[in-house]
Amino acid sequence: MAKLERYIADQVRARAAYHVPAGEPRVKLDAMESPYSLPIEVRDRWLHALRDLAINRYPAVDHYQRLKKRLAAESGLAPGCEIVLGNGSDEILQNLLLAMSPDVTVVAPTPTFVMYEQIASLLGRRFVGVPLKDDFGLDVRALKDALTRHAPALLFLAYPNNPTGILYQRAEIEELLAIEDALIVVDEAYYPFAQATVIDKLATHPQLMVLRTLSKQGLAGMRFGWLAADPVWTHELEKVRLPYNINSVTVATIGFALDYADVFADQARRIRDERAKLFGALAAIATVWPSEANFLLFRPHKAHEAGRIHRELEARGVLIKNVSHHPGLTGCLRVTVGTPDENQVFLAALAQAL
Ligand SMILES: Cc1ncc(COP(=O)(O)O)c(C=O)c1O
Repeated sequence: MAKLERYIADQVRARAAYHVPAGEPRVKLDAMESPYSLPIEVRDRWLHALRDLAINRYPAVDHYQRLKKRLAAESGLAPGCEIVLGNGSDEILQNLLLAMSPDVTVVAPTPTFVMYEQIASLLGRRFVGVPLKDDFGLDVRALKDALTRHAPALLFLAYPNNPTGILYQRAEIEELLAIEDALIVVDEAYYPFAQATVIDKLATHPQLMVLRTLSKQGLAGMRFGWLAADPVWTHELEKVRLPYNINSVTVATIGFALDYADVFADQARRIRDERAKLFGALAAIATVWPSEANFLLFRPHKAHEAGRIHRELEARGVLIKNVSHHPGLTGCLRVTVGTPDENQVFLAALAQAL
């Protein structure tokens, strides 16, 4: 047997694989998936659209181009900016860091989406977390300091943030964009729920990149994300992207889904309405933070019992996310907004566990 440590990089051996819980819970509210599928007649049309797909061929470049054009038009992307496609936005994050020179420090306000640090560390990049303020707002001064001190630096800003749900102020992002020589990726994974974007800033700020995914709006199983940026960056990212990273079924499905944007928009509106109701119910029994995403972060009054509460919910078939071990999130749990029925089942199980 060859010696593991001579072959596998230290930073890989040191980490655990990303944990995805096994099994199919009765109510799944742990991963910010949409609880809604498409109406049955739309699904039939989708299956019909897939029927003649040439799965014996590699995905066609023209189809990638067509999809990019549609995404650009529908997101109001300024002419001159370009799009790179990813097998989920996670893949784009990975490609982005693969393309970066080893001197680049990855900076992010923390707590935030775990993959920023996970991918940076796995690739042996330096990661600097800048703690959020007590109300989970941005500490702009500390971030500016970090970006200047660790230049060249790449800043990841989840807008709104996961797992806090907070949407930073646009003026704060503008202040960060004023820093010369810092690259800023604004990750708009929860755009359908926040409806706030800085995509309009791309034309005037070539150091900005905007990342989107279709996972949260009902297409998580398709694994599809995209990044919009100045061509100086997309040109390099295209070299790192594997040639056929988006499979033909996904390309056809995303094109199909764009024709039903109104159905997805309606689902997002229902989720926003449910978020307000769930917020009200949770506020009566826990500390809960206002969220512009499709999930809520809350801390039960018996914060030290977060682990037990999470396990009891799981035993009752309700899966949420225990984030209480993250620095800055002691005693906190995160719940995805589900259908009205799912939210009721969750609240009843939570009341019992409390
Ligand atoms: C802020 C943020 N960005 C990106 C992702 C990953 O999305 P995808 O499914 O496109 O890889 C997530 C998923 O939770 C997220 O919270």
